[in-house]
Amino acid sequence: MLKDKNILLGVTGGIAAYKSPSIVSLLKKQGANVKVVMTDAACEFVTPLTFQTMSNKPVHVEMFNQLMNMDVEHISLAKWADVIVVAPCTANTIGKFANGICDNLLTTVLMASRSKIIIAPAMNTFMLNNKFNQENIKKLEELGVVVLDTQKDLLACNDVGAGKMLEPEEIVQAIDYELTEKDLRGKKFIITSGPTIEELDPVRYLTNHSSGKMGYALAREAKKRGATVTLISGPTSIEPPKVDEFVRIKSTQDMFNAVESRFNSVDVLIKAAAPADFKPKIYSEEKIKKTKSEDFNSIELEQNIDIAKHFGKIKGNKIVVGFAAESNDEINYGKGKLKAKNFDLIVVNNITKEGAGFKSDTNIASIIDKDENVESLNSMSKNDLANEILNRIRRLLQAR
Ligand SMILES: Cc1cc2nc3c(=O)[nH]c(=O)nc-3n(C[C@H](O)[C@H](O)[C@H](O)COP(=O)(O)O)c2cc1C
Repeated sequence: MLKDKNILLGVTGGIAAYKSPSIVSLLKKQGANVKVVMTDAACEFVTPLTFQTMSNKPVHVEMFNQLMNMDVEHISLAKWADVIVVAPCTANTIGKFANGICDNLLTTVLMASRSKIIIAPAMNTFMLNNKFNQENIKKLEELGVVVLDTQKDLLACNDVGAGKMLEPEEIVQAIDYELTEKDLRGKKFIITSGPTIEELDPVRYLTNHSSGKMGYALAREAKKRGATVTLISGPTSIEPPKVDEFVRIKSTQDMFNAVESRFNSVDVLIKAAAPADFKPKIYSEEKIKKTKSEDFNSIELEQNIDIAKHFGKIKGNKIVVGFAAESNDEINYGKGKLKAKNFDLIVVNNITKEGAGFKSDTNIASIIDKDENVESLNSMSKNDLANEILNRIRRLLQAR
């Protein structure tokens, strides 16, 4: 989503300036164009050469030696930027910006800008909580500036408290969020993700290789696009995205119950989970002992409820999207599953292909619609695939 976006990074004179080159690096990795403006105080902490090297562009510091280019720099930079991010943003720059002072290149660009502005404050806790600073922040928020939170931690000045700048990854996520069109605003989604586990005894269980990555990517991207998202997830080892409601479950029956109690109020159900199809017929309250293993050389299984099929059948005008992970003949299996479970779309992939399937960060999928049109997509990140799927869901929602 940040590809080809013009991002102007303002760096001011706080100790957290040492982290700002990482922001440039993360933005560049996502395909953004980055220019950097530094205050004189920022140059005391990190050299312009560092940012010049990271951004592959000259760094802007001076107000008055730019006319050599026949270009009024503070105006052209302000016009160029899709978004201006000041990270770190000192109490001094917050104060100047909130009070219309423009006595250096950065504050003048801020004054000339009509783009979205995000600031990432970074300062000592007492400075952060200072009444003037708090009033300045409030004023900026009222003017539409996005003021990011700070972290509570041990600060460079050895005080413990709020004021530490958010991490570069979080700042980049905030930029991405602000630049993403909110085309799913007002729509409610349930997304199921990950495996489920079926317990055999207090120690052992049956499960599968699902990592939850695809469902988490869908939840993250849907949230970014303005949807209200409930993410229902089986056990995973990855960090869940920030969503409206996160529900952790264990078994397929738990997942069914969690969907059922919320299904009526949603517009879209995406079944990206891999619920266990079978469960042990008998659960042993006590750990099955090794010595008795001759008695347990087979496990009797019974079928679990088919969650996707159940909600596909009763969906009314809700959109239900399913997934099929197959090891062969995936398109035909996918078409059969789409019909049998009354999905609006099915996303199929062949888990034996390199770069596809459970644990991978990429996927190679085909999307099949109700008319059995098959769109085969190239290998792409699970985030990009999530957006491809959401684009198709948005079209279906518009056509409802
Ligand atoms: C070692 C050191 C660390 C500083 N760290 C911060 C900081 O984290 N946040 C802040 O608001 N000011 C900090 N300051 C004070 C600013 O550098 C000072 O207010 C300066 O005028 C800011 O200028 P600028 O906003 O134009 O960059 C620090 C100063 C020094 C000497």
